[in-house]
Amino acid sequence: MISGKTKLYGVMGWPIGHTLSPVIHWEFARAMGIDMEYMAFSVEPDQVEAAVKGAYALGIRGMNVTVPHKQTVIPFLDGLDKGAQVVGAVNTLVRTDKGYRGYNTDVTGLSRSMAEAGMTARDRVCILVGAGGAAKAAAYVLAEEGAAKVYALNRTIAHAEVLAGDLNRLFGREIIVPMALDGWRDIPDTGCLAVQTTSVGMAPKGEEAPIEDVEFYKKLDMAFDVIYTPWLSTFLMQAATAGAKVSNGSDMLVYQAAAAFELWNPGLKLSGEAIANAKMAIMAARGSAS
Ligand code: ATR
Repeated sequence: MISGKTKLYGVMGWPIGHTLSPVIHWEFARAMGIDMEYMAFSVEPDQVEAAVKGAYALGIRGMNVTVPHKQTVIPFLDGLDKGAQVVGAVNTLVRTDKGYRGYNTDVTGLSRSMAEAGMTARDRVCILVGAGGAAKAAAYVLAEEGAAKVYALNRTIAHAEVLAGDLNRLFGREIIVPMALDGWRDIPDTGCLAVQTTSVGMAPKGEEAPIEDVEFYKKLDMAFDVIYTPWLSTFLMQAATAGAKVSNGSDMLVYQAAAAFELWNPGLKLSGEAIANAKMAIMAARGSAS
């Protein structure tokens, strides 16, 4: 039941109509008995400042921020958490006395979903595909978990070089090796863990993959794709065909939401039932569990 005391949360992005975040947070709130609503707000790029200030003025308790605002929202915040500083992107706003503080729960979400899929980077040679915001979060997770090395493959090698420079400086070792997309041919290793972070292969272009050559996939033992529409991207299908263990990004979505929910409700720990319900709701919202 909604009342005068119901707390409001939301997500802002552009476009935003396909977001599954309201479904996830509704499941969390219901399972945990919290009086809140969570709405999707379509915010055009030149309205980000007005949206942040307006949300604060209206007493909105917390927000998620998604594409294309994860970086542009930063100047309008009251400080950044360390993870958000490192990645240079924010996906969660937490209300403070002076404004919203920016966090990045994509990092936590990715790390937890990879761990649950039995994919650990420790001492492993990793291959990162992409060099955008999601790639930076993934590179941070892989480096933090103790990857032996991370080859960062990207269409524009200059972007991979910037990512490598930032992360290598942060971790104080030459862990990230930037490469062009076809640079994988020079990777001597097999048994690699690959993390695909680009939007290539996302519905409605599900037949595409950032790397087409079947030889590439023979290097992989494990493959994670942030894409979950289609449920099994061409990248994951190719990896599975080559014998690798695969996992898509749908749990990452649930775990980044869980971390945001827990930031908004200090001291609260989401139950296993809340998490499981959200995972099932996502599959149902997609209309298929396959
Ligand atoms: P996000 O923040 O979601 O990661 P982004 O910052 O726009 O999104 O990054 C998109 C990534 O997908 C980049 O690595 C981009 O490559 P470039 O750096 O060369 O732009 C990659 N990407 C997007 N479209 C691509 C395509 N058609 N082929 C290969 N890579 C592509």
